[in-house]
Amino acid sequence: MRTQPKKGLAVLLAVLVGSVGAAAPAYAGGAGPTPGSAGLGDRLYPLLGNGGYDVQNYDLHVTYPEKDPKQTVTGDVTITALATQNLSRFNLDFGGDSVGVVRVNGDRAEFTRQGDELVITPRRHLPKGQRFRVRVSGYTATPIEANASSPAGFVTTTDGTFMAGQPDQSHNYFPSNDHPSDMATYTIALTAPVGWLAVANGTHVSDKRDHGYVTSTYREAKPLASELIQAAVGDFVLQKRPPVNGIAIRDVVPRRLADDLLPKAEVERSQLTWMIDKVGKYPFENYGSLVVDTRLGFALETQTISLYDTSLFARPKYILDPIMLHELSHMWFGDSVAPSEWSSVWQSEGHATWYELEYAEETGVFQQYTRMPNREAYFKQVYAEGDQLRKDYGPVARPLKADVIWDVFNPNVYDGGALVLYALRQKVGERDFQRIEREWVKLNRGKSVDTHDFVNLASAVSGKNLRPFLNDWLYGTTTPPMPGHPDWTVDPAEAAAAPAAATARHR
Ligand code: TRP
Ligand code: ZN
Repeated sequence: MRTQPKKGLAVLLAVLVGSVGAAAPAYAGGAGPTPGSAGLGDRLYPLLGNGGYDVQNYDLHVTYPEKDPKQTVTGDVTITALATQNLSRFNLDFGGDSVGVVRVNGDRAEFTRQGDELVITPRRHLPKGQRFRVRVSGYTATPIEANASSPAGFVTTTDGTFMAGQPDQSHNYFPSNDHPSDMATYTIALTAPVGWLAVANGTHVSDKRDHGYVTSTYREAKPLASELIQAAVGDFVLQKRPPVNGIAIRDVVPRRLADDLLPKAEVERSQLTWMIDKVGKYPFENYGSLVVDTRLGFALETQTISLYDTSLFARPKYILDPIMLHELSHMWFGDSVAPSEWSSVWQSEGHATWYELEYAEETGVFQQYTRMPNREAYFKQVYAEGDQLRKDYGPVARPLKADVIWDVFNPNVYDGGALVLYALRQKVGERDFQRIEREWVKLNRGKSVDTHDFVNLASAVSGKNLRPFLNDWLYGTTTPPMPGHPDWTVDPAEAAAAPAAATARHR
């Protein structure tokens, strides 16, 4: 489901596709069939996603043949999509080992692989506005070891495998339109030997046993961005907890570490109440934690089941709890409301950092957690670093580069993004700030939106034209004045003296 058709993107698509219809015969539906573009022209990841169609649903089935966490898995995916142009050909993103057979609307289709592009030529062209089905069967993918300096993807551990797809790795696990502007519903079925546990996003539908294997099926009926898929399969155990506000809770951890890890996850229940109180209705049907025994160097908001590594779970509660709150708040900011371009990732990280810090303050661990007395002192420090952050990483809503992963998930997206929210709150006051936050997650539930949508909504809700103000904060190369704090200064010397707290929090 692509929720926000964007003019800028349409122009880019036309450019990528080439001269639409130049030599094509007259065609009833408008332009003649042409190939869908190989990417959506994302500023940071131009080849992620594909042009010409909009996925509605993924029906994914992956088989784990043995109890071997390093093994190659085989998969079948059926994608239901809507053609948004007359398509002679289209791409999926896929970086796995091999592809078996591709069918479009039941007919075998030719395909080629070019890097991470799976180029599919259906026997008949696909008319604009029509739904079609593409089935990729018998594909294979092999997990990799986690490496703290690069994005992970499909990852192996002693106990089994899991997914950490953000931002551009999910298509190493399954063929997809791997861009958060195209959210879709998912059915995920995982077949593994009896004794292993398999968990995915969404609610559990069934377990079916057959000849030494169990197929566990999950349904995520709320739109999911491909980067946030989870499929954890291995020697894990699942513990259910009492529901919170009707939201089912379950945690998944390595069996051999259950006694140590499970008690630490319990705080998620009171955190859920805390977040609902702050921003309103939880957007999904269930929640929980997945802990894996590796060193990822980050946590990840995989939809309905946040991902953590054991090195984080070994840290003190005053660190773990705020980070768990950060991931939980992503369910509203980043998951349910996803960025429609990667340059808008501050929307996810800025808000998650905002609530993480607010929670740390309200639970009395702020000083221990950040080594600063309170949020005001913290933001004053981030403010002092403002120009340097913008210089090193680019403006908040325009990260400089994507080549090294930390350049997208950079401190100016996290702390800088939270500072923009602080500035907004200073400008409109606590009451209107809360109204903006609550309206944002309610209005955009299940949609991909971007920075301009936030700026427009903030203006509409507050009844003030906040465009000049927020655009300076989001896109400026220097740090604007802070409303209500004329004494706050941008001071490169001060910036150098104290390390950004994000460094301690997120790496
Ligand atoms: N989005 C994650 C968080 O802040 C961080 C993250 C996930 C990340 N995957 C990453 C950071 C890959 C760098 C690289 O909760
Ligand atoms: Zn985050």
